[in-house]
Amino acid sequence: MKSLPYFCRGEVVRGFGRGSKELGIPTANFPDSVVEHLPADVNTGIYYGWACVGHGDVHKMVMSIGWNPYYKNSKKSMETHVIHTFKEDFYGEVLSVVMVGYIRPERSFDSLDALISAINSDIEEAKLKLDQPEFLKLKTDNFFSSSSHSPSAATTAENSIINGH
Ligand SMILES: Cc1cc2nc3c(=O)[nH]c(=O)nc-3n(C[C@H](O)[C@H](O)[C@H](O)COP(=O)(O)O)c2cc1C
Repeated sequence: MKSLPYFCRGEVVRGFGRGSKELGIPTANFPDSVVEHLPADVNTGIYYGWACVGHGDVHKMVMSIGWNPYYKNSKKSMETHVIHTFKEDFYGEVLSVVMVGYIRPERSFDSLDALISAINSDIEEAKLKLDQPEFLKLKTDNFFSSSSHSPSAATTAENSIINGH
């Protein structure tokens, strides 16, 4: 995928709320403005990369892009699971991410447990891959320390789409 690494940021909006409750794996949803601006060669599927909430630390992340076939969503979403335990929800804060690699296509599963184990293997794969020097260097990219982290700045299309920053 030519567009990787892909940098973007946006305000965290509410999803269906199943991430924490049903799966035990909280996910942060991006608004439509960010989803709609994804480059054409960034296919639906599961990705790994780095993420930071507001001006916080940069953590490893996994992201699902698409329609969640297990749940048959009718709306395309971009959901990030930040691999870190947060004390509180961060709806309304700005999430900055860089997607660096692709893991697998989205698929449906026979059970919720099977979906949960697939996500847990994605997390393990992401942790290993991101320790490679070529990916580790993106953790300290200037993108994560730049100033446009306020929700108002991130809601404009220009500010949420800043690849090639
Ligand atoms: C790493 C990762 C992999 C995922 N893989 C799939 C998948 O293969 N199929 C699927 O239907 N949903 C997949 N999901 C999406 C979950 O179903 C979704 O996060 C859950 O429905 C919560 O959504 P909500 O926050 O909008 O409620 C994945 C999510 C993550 C974070």
